[in-house]
Amino acid sequence: MHVLRCPRCGIELDLLAKQHTCPRCGEPLLLKAELRVPEGGGLESLVPDGLKLVTLGEGRTPTVELGNYLFKLEFLNPTGSFKDRGASLSISRALKLGFRMVIEDSSGNAGISTAAYSARAGLKARVYVPKDAPQGKLRLIRAFGAEVVTSETRDEAHKRAVSDTSGFYVGHVVDPFFIEGIKDISLELYSVRRDLEVVVVPVASGTLFLGLLKGFEELRELGLIDEVPTLIPVEACGYSKLRGYLRSVYLECAESDKSLLADALRLTIVPRLRQIVEGALRAKAPYVAVVGDRAIGEALKELYSLGLPVEPSSAATYAAAKYVAKDLSTRVVVPLTGSGLKYVPVPSEPLDRYLFGAQ
Ligand SMILES: Cc1ncc(COP(=O)(O)O)c(C=O)c1O
Ligand SMILES: [Zn+2]
Repeated sequence: MHVLRCPRCGIELDLLAKQHTCPRCGEPLLLKAELRVPEGGGLESLVPDGLKLVTLGEGRTPTVELGNYLFKLEFLNPTGSFKDRGASLSISRALKLGFRMVIEDSSGNAGISTAAYSARAGLKARVYVPKDAPQGKLRLIRAFGAEVVTSETRDEAHKRAVSDTSGFYVGHVVDPFFIEGIKDISLELYSVRRDLEVVVVPVASGTLFLGLLKGFEELRELGLIDEVPTLIPVEACGYSKLRGYLRSVYLECAESDKSLLADALRLTIVPRLRQIVEGALRAKAPYVAVVGDRAIGEALKELYSLGLPVEPSSAATYAAAKYVAKDLSTRVVVPLTGSGLKYVPVPSEPLDRYLFGAQ
């Protein structure tokens, strides 16, 4: 039996309460369930009883070992990012609760996943985005039939989305079901390798960081692993939230720089910040890597030269991994979270007629 649980004050709520945050202390909630030994991952085993899984075949992504790095190819999910795993459970819940429309705010990828899984479930979706989100991402959200509302900044998009009452807010930055879907990544990693020591994790709202940590902590609770791997957060230069809480290692990032390349990591309002900071301590993170555009650009070039078509935010993760592999002389797990195919423009005039209707 699953419940919603506040990780701060411990209060438990019915799984189908419509809240994301604790009614007593305001902290974003998490799911809690009786733990079961995972059978190689897969959201079917994580969906709470009584919910019908809205699925597009997400998950079970490959791992590729190259030198010191174990890449987890999350960009091979149905819409090209790890967010599909979270959206699958978030939209399953919205459907179960009887909503006809959902609201999300996103730098792009979570909006694409929400739009796709809403389309699959027959729900309407509205996605608030920053006005400078990559065109390829916005076009995909629209192609899935969702409405796109642009705001000045990523943070402004978040504020507007939470005050939109015309549908159920499924914002991944607070939705506990979203993190439960992301957790699947650790179960899959565990099914491939039992000797993981260090994972570098890109952090914007922290769903990947907290999802991985939740999965590894549950594996430890089940007695399947002795120790949670060290999780090292990675942030974009100019958008660090963990500065001041953890030692910062700056990679080509000067005080006044602001990353233009890492568009998926430019969030500063982070409702789960407290959980990320506490989680980083529990996961023994020795520091946070804060990565600037030169390092991101070079890492991106290198990943393409290896045949890995990822987006710039994922190259930030690889840039950090290179530093960590040397610094700790260890093999590093690198989740490659988003696809670079969304950034490659295509001649689209004849295609647009079908995807978006006559213009
Ligand atoms: C490609 C990519 N990587 C990493 C992240 C960071 O994820 P989170 O918000 O879970 O911290 C995002 C979020 O938008 C993303 O799109
Ligand atoms: Zn609470």
